[in-house]
Amino acid sequence: MTNEVMRSVFSLGELFDTIDWVCERCHARYVSILRFKKAKATMPKKPSKKKQGTPERLMQFGFAYAPPLIIGAAVSNKVFDTLESGGKTIEQVSKTTGASQRGLRAVMNALVGLKLLKKNRHEKYSLTPESEAFLISGKPGTLAGFFAMASTHLVPDWLHLNEAVRTGTPPVALNQEATGPEFFSVLVENIIPMSYPAAMVLGQSLGLANARKPVCVLDVAAGSGIWGIGLAQQSPLVRVTAQDWPEMIPITRRITQKFGVADRFTYVEGDVLKANFGTDYDIATLGHILHTEGEDRSRKLLKKVFGW
Ligand SMILES: C[S@@+](CC[C@H](N)C(=O)[O-])C[C@H]1O[C@@H](n2cnc3c(N)ncnc32)[C@H](O)[C@@H]1O
Repeated sequence: MTNEVMRSVFSLGELFDTIDWVCERCHARYVSILRFKKAKATMPKKPSKKKQGTPERLMQFGFAYAPPLIIGAAVSNKVFDTLESGGKTIEQVSKTTGASQRGLRAVMNALVGLKLLKKNRHEKYSLTPESEAFLISGKPGTLAGFFAMASTHLVPDWLHLNEAVRTGTPPVALNQEATGPEFFSVLVENIIPMSYPAAMVLGQSLGLANARKPVCVLDVAAGSGIWGIGLAQQSPLVRVTAQDWPEMIPITRRITQKFGVADRFTYVEGDVLKANFGTDYDIATLGHILHTEGEDRSRKLLKKVFGW
């Protein structure tokens, strides 16, 4: 199985062919640029017209913090959930949610501007296909929880960026057991929609549905367990060992139960570098972990898991 899997994912021949192809294309493009430059150098020069810039793009960056907070405020005040049953006026939304009419008007008009709500001429607001699909809480694939985290868990850490740049130290060391679980226990379920489709595609491209003997998967830093879940759903022959800190494992357990695959999961508690997750896996996934581990620990982890 290991070899089959490895062949289908990492065909080195194919990889080098691709690199060669890219290099050839780059080379051809480089030569044609040089030719073009040479030809241009011999042409009479036109008087240069400098493009007049506008600050539009920068101004958009300047307020880019606002949309996630606006969406988060609407989620937290149940605006999208309230509109699921049909279009409503500000007064009606206020009555159902208990939020102020003034606040709702500001946020809901901003959402119209962001094309996440529609407003008709009778001042009734309704969902768009996008907000209906992804911003109603409790729906599979919802991002409601992720946006609700913007003001509580995401933006507050970004506010320390100046200091982090000056000192080279993050505001919170998320890769430490003393501080990490508080953040990750809120995050992991909310980012399931980010990885679930990719985990399913991974399972399909590995051909797991055709497995004839047990396939052992190691899901390192499993969190919700979504990478292992996506693979386990491909075949009853897939068995997953999910590793995370002890505080996180009850969450992993609950979510694997929710997806109906818990009976094929075993759990290993501990730090990624210290936990003993054994050997002889056919597949190992490291979902969204290296970026918080830093280079040294990531190299050690890759060596521990893959022997690189
Ligand atoms: C960003 S979440 C990713 C979860 C999941 N793999 C995914 O892709 O959705 C990172 C996970 O790694 C765990 N984690 C982070 N640093 C860790 C460490 N040093 N040892 C053990 N687990 C760690 C966190 O508890 C969290 O569940």
